[in-house]
Amino acid sequence: MSNIATLEIDGKKYEFPVVVGTENEVAIDIEKLRGETGAITLDPGYKNSGSCQSAITFLDGEQGILRYRGYSIEDLASKSNFLEVSYLLIFGELPTAAELEKFENTIRKYTLVHEEMKNIIDGFPKTAHPMGVLASLTSALTAFNPKSVNVANDKEMYEAVCKTMGKFLVIATWTYRKAMGYPLNYYDNTKGYVENFMQLMFALPTGPYKPNPVVVDALDKLFILHADHEQNCSTSTVRMVGSSHAGLFASISAGVSALWGPLHGGANQAVLEMLEEIQKDGGDADKYLAKAKDKNDPFRLMGFGHRVYKNFDPRAKIIKKAADDVLSSLGVEDPVLNIAKKLEESALQDEYFKSRNLYPNVDFYSGIIYRAMGIPTEMFTVLFAIGRLPGWIAQWKEMRVNKEPIGRPRQVYVGEPHREFKPADKR
Ligand code: CMC
Repeated sequence: MSNIATLEIDGKKYEFPVVVGTENEVAIDIEKLRGETGAITLDPGYKNSGSCQSAITFLDGEQGILRYRGYSIEDLASKSNFLEVSYLLIFGELPTAAELEKFENTIRKYTLVHEEMKNIIDGFPKTAHPMGVLASLTSALTAFNPKSVNVANDKEMYEAVCKTMGKFLVIATWTYRKAMGYPLNYYDNTKGYVENFMQLMFALPTGPYKPNPVVVDALDKLFILHADHEQNCSTSTVRMVGSSHAGLFASISAGVSALWGPLHGGANQAVLEMLEEIQKDGGDADKYLAKAKDKNDPFRLMGFGHRVYKNFDPRAKIIKKAADDVLSSLGVEDPVLNIAKKLEESALQDEYFKSRNLYPNVDFYSGIIYRAMGIPTEMFTVLFAIGRLPGWIAQWKEMRVNKEPIGRPRQVYVGEPHREFKPADKR
């Protein structure tokens, strides 16, 4: 492969360097394109544009490969745990036992959220969607932690990472407690991170609470599977906002908003609502497949298709198996699981889905597990956000440490050319 790409515009040739990644992806470096040619590239949705060079996550959509820092998602999901994976993503290496213990203890140092944050929560109606509340609360954390982190100082960065991991989990669960009208719970520093998620969500002052270990294990795995996914919509948002040197909480808050949409993380809620609708409508999966294929019908098969996976989503494979395991160990029989299986089976044989490489994605089965665990549907995307948090932090940190320039795309203007202003009585 040549390390130079040649571009011809109006009979004039220009040369640009070719960058090859460690897994042999090829990119044409057009940093000097506009300066040398006067032209820009146009790539709506950034389907062909790399925004950065990153050493965090490798993804091969054709072969269905996903690796964090070189470790396969299958290995990490079966052998590691969420905090270890978080450390790996953020700091680049798997922690030693001592490093992991220090990480967990430093997170614990920051699990108390300022009491005045409760006043902010009180201002929301009970009906507010938890993702909207979470984005606002994350942003509000900035007010209580106004000093922005010096990314060049490893100690400061380490503390900021642990502070974000500690406080975000707590406020994420508060969005649910608010909706339910329950008192807000505190993190229990004698327990683990994922166990704490369960007790923060479900423990009531009226009695003891012990989370089911099957659920804690499954959740840990789900968080790992969601922990990073290179330059997806919410992560690109976090990097973009952070590129203006806005703080970590403000950048993460923007990521939460980006994740909320049904084409991204909001799909897990949308999948379950879709499956419930099909069930209510008599359980005819084929009818909904036909709707998804009908170009005059805006309906899409939620949980199907992916911008980069064009073969299969490796996360979906692991989650499908986990759904079976969790449901059987919890003794739950869920008819929507059968509808999901029927939909998947029919879609995988259907020419429309086959020709467009549309396969089940991570969200197709995750909602079924969450439901079996007793997590309310509106909280599904919040769980995605908790899982994605270490990825957002790692990407934000990488962007700042690499001193990336402010993100500022260009455009091709297609509006009116210059016009003379006319006063109102002459228009
Ligand atoms: N149902 C029916 N048709 C679909 C679907 C779907 N779920 N997804 C894509 N298509 C069709 C689309 O209509 C288009 O057809 P045509 O070529 O005839 O115009 C073709 O497939 C290509 O679709 P696209 O919208 O150009 O693909 P994209 O890469 O821009 O979008 C996507 C990717 C994930 C937004 C899309 O597949 C989708 O809307 N899926 C449903 C929502 C979903 O499950 N999102 C979760 C993604 S995984 C979690 C995460 O990481 O965010």
